[in-house]
Amino acid sequence: MAEPVQTPHAFPTRIFSGIQPSGGLTLGNYLGALKRFVEKQDEGIETVYCLVDMHAITVWQDPVRLRQQTREAAAGFIAAGIDPARSILFNQSQVHAHAELAWIFNCVARMGWMSRMTQFKDKAGKNSENVSLGLFAYPALMAADILAYKATHVPVGEDQKQHLELCRDIAAKFNNDFGVNFFPITEPVIEGAGTRVMSLRDGTKKMSKSDPSDQSRINLTDDADMIAKKIKKAKTDAEPLPSELDGLADRPEARNLVNIYAALAGMTPAEVVREHAGSQFGSFKPALADLAVSVMSPITTEMNRLMQDVTEIDRILGAGAERADAIARPIVNDVYDIVGMIRSR
Ligand code: AMP
Ligand code: TRP
Repeated sequence: MAEPVQTPHAFPTRIFSGIQPSGGLTLGNYLGALKRFVEKQDEGIETVYCLVDMHAITVWQDPVRLRQQTREAAAGFIAAGIDPARSILFNQSQVHAHAELAWIFNCVARMGWMSRMTQFKDKAGKNSENVSLGLFAYPALMAADILAYKATHVPVGEDQKQHLELCRDIAAKFNNDFGVNFFPITEPVIEGAGTRVMSLRDGTKKMSKSDPSDQSRINLTDDADMIAKKIKKAKTDAEPLPSELDGLADRPEARNLVNIYAALAGMTPAEVVREHAGSQFGSFKPALADLAVSVMSPITTEMNRLMQDVTEIDRILGAGAERADAIARPIVNDVYDIVGMIRSR
């Protein structure tokens, strides 16, 4: 049998990331993902950002709301600083390479790998017989999203780490099975204080668009009053802030608010506690609320303005999809050739 050829081959730096339009964007999405997408774009790196509508339908989505949420997420991206001229911004279903490569990867990934995915186990819970097959296959579609562009770096929040390890495993197995060095072994980029923003009601749970309590999260559509109210009501403890981070080790809610402050202010959590050492939450929360409003409000206002013209949003997504397709199509065609499919039309 031929030895797999792993000739060193440098892949040009390309960033890919995605967000599900399965609800409104949250402060967690903003700090863990969106804000960092903008930073990468502004560093001048090639950036491809995708609203993953096909991932969204792994759980039930009302069709009218799905369209609305996809446009709203696009508006949120642009309002947060994604420039559709510099970044490629589109919705997943308009670029067929994603679904096509996902099928190939369904045949590369092993049942055992997929069964270990903690997000599937959490989402399926006791109901695992009754969730969609798509929810189980979800990480293979995610690997297809990334590898259809041979993306080398993927900025995400902490919760996506395991899915990115699976993407690396799929790329390595594909390369090895076919004796090629075709796909890069993509690096996750999980950095900064906002990679795991927790619920405002429970410091041990991730802030999520799917949490039944709206009080648990800040939405990108919340107005200034609402943001301030939610922060002031956020669960905390009775202790003042310590001067060192060690003092927050067993205080998940306090730690979360310090992290949020740090991520919003562009500081490290250690700098935040140094600056606010000894503060009670009675004074720290209003300071945090002011900071959150000053960062988020301009984004919300701009997002609402952009939503006035959905034709323009759809045009931007269509133009982005064409640029995305121009990169992904030849890559997926090469995959068909490598796998042994006849292409004769
Ligand atoms: P999703 O909303 O699940 O599609 O997530 C889109 C992106 O936002 C991914 O990179 C997630 O890791 C990130 N993200 C979602 N929720 C949070 C959170 N609470 N804290 C930090 N990042 C998050
Ligand atoms: N699974 C990611 C999430 O829920 C969203 C996603 C889909 C994604 N495809 C991706 C993120 C590709 C990064 C790269 O957060």
